[in-house]
Parts: sequence; structure tokens; C-alpha cells
Amino acid sequence: MKKTALLLGAILLTATAGARTFDEIKAAGTIKIATEGAFKPFNYFVGKKLTGFEVELGDAIAKKLGLKVQWVTQPFDSLIIGVTQNRYDFAIASHGINEERAKVVDFSDPHYCTGGQIVSKSPNIKTAAQLNGKRVAVQVGTSYLSNVQKVKGAKVKTFPKDTDAVQALISGTVDAWVSDKFVVLDAQKANPKVKWQLGDLLFQEKIAMVINKGNTSVTEALNGALADILKDGTYAKISKKYFGTDVSCK
Ligand code: ARG
Repeated sequence: MKKTALLLGAILLTATAGARTFDEIKAAGTIKIATEGAFKPFNYFVGKKLTGFEVELGDAIAKKLGLKVQWVTQPFDSLIIGVTQNRYDFAIASHGINEERAKVVDFSDPHYCTGGQIVSKSPNIKTAAQLNGKRVAVQVGTSYLSNVQKVKGAKVKTFPKDTDAVQALISGTVDAWVSDKFVVLDAQKANPKVKWQLGDLLFQEKIAMVINKGNTSVTEALNGALADILKDGTYAKISKKYFGTDVSCK
């Protein structure tokens, strides 16, 4: 009886094995970071190489902490679940800080500030009110989805990737697209022939790294390293490279 109870305890312990603390990561020497890899210019692939603003930030943060990085890419809507299951130490994939997510995960200090922008090909579709009766493309699991759902009369169409959502706007199967204002600028540059109409920001958000709930040693380490790279110019340099300006939250 005792033995069975012990065994059961051991199994439970492994199954619910906690997140790695910062000391445990330090001892291992490598931090496991997850992102999506399909949200240009934040995280994307050039051929087989994962790159982007958040990938360079993740690398710079790890370097400050004296760690090597193992990058993992996952569909956006499975990243938070992966963090809660400790499949990686944290995720950096443009997650906006919001109450719903804060129930299941912790956020670092914000690593950039931005907004969800309305985009269409018609000068008559630029405001939230003008989305009434219109088909609006958004990526699943995003703050764009939850915010468009609140817009009266908007017919939300969800896509697994944001790149699919923008394609739907370009090909005309939807009337509008809501995405990050910097992603929008990038799509505009990449598709100069499209008659883009950049509309209002539907909402603003602070973007942060996502850590498993209660894993404070990792959150504190990330915040410390982020503060360091903000101070020593590393952040500004990476930000200028991707945006021509400093996108940190002021
Ligand atoms: N900022 C939005 C959110 O918080 C979208 C993030 C999408 N990120 C991505 N890697 N596709 O939900």
C-alpha cells in the first residue's frame, strides 16, 4: 500500500514537474525559447533561418544572462498552452498583456508598445463603425480576434496564420484585416501594388514575454536583462534595424 502510494506520488511529481527555475536553467546553460515564426517583422523565417525583432531580442537577452538559446517554433495559438506545460522556458511572440491571459501565465515587462490596426482596400472601411456588416480577417488566438468580436456587426473570419489573413484581404475574400500596425507596414512594403487603406487603431496594447505562472525567478531574470539591453543601447540598435525607430514603451 505504502509502496503504491509512493509510486503514485512519484508519477504525479513527474507529470506536474514544475517549470525550470532560473538557477536550473543557468546550471543547464541553455534556455528554451518559443515563438511562432510567421509574424514578420517580429518573428519569421528567411529560408530556414528564424529571425526578426523578437528573435534578436531573445538572443540578446539570453546573451546578457550568459545562456545559449534553443529556439522552438509553434503555431501561435498553442504557445500559451506550451508555456503552461513547461515545454519551453518562455515565449516571445508578440503577446499583448491582457487579463484573460494573465489568469494562466505571467508577463514580463513589455518589450514593445503597439496597436491593432484596421486595414482595407476601400476608403470607406477605416473605422470600427465602418466594419459593421463587413468580413474582417484576423489570426486565431489573437487580441485582434477578441477586439473585432466586440465590434458591432463585424463578421469575423479567423485564419491559422496572420499571413493567411492578409492574403484573404489581398485576394478580396474579406473586406478588412486587423493586425499589428508594424506588421501592416511590412505587408504594405512587400505588396506595393495593393491599394492599401490604412485605417484607425482599433485598440492599443503592450507586448510582453510569456512565462509560466509563478515562475518568478525566470520573470525577474528576463526583466533584468531587458532593462540592461534597454540601457546599453542594444535594444535601440535592434529596433532601429527593423523599424527605423525605437518601439519600446515610453
Ligand atoms: N498582438 C496580438 C496578440 O496579442 C497578436 C500576436 C500574434 N503573434 C504572432 N506571432 N502571430 O494576440
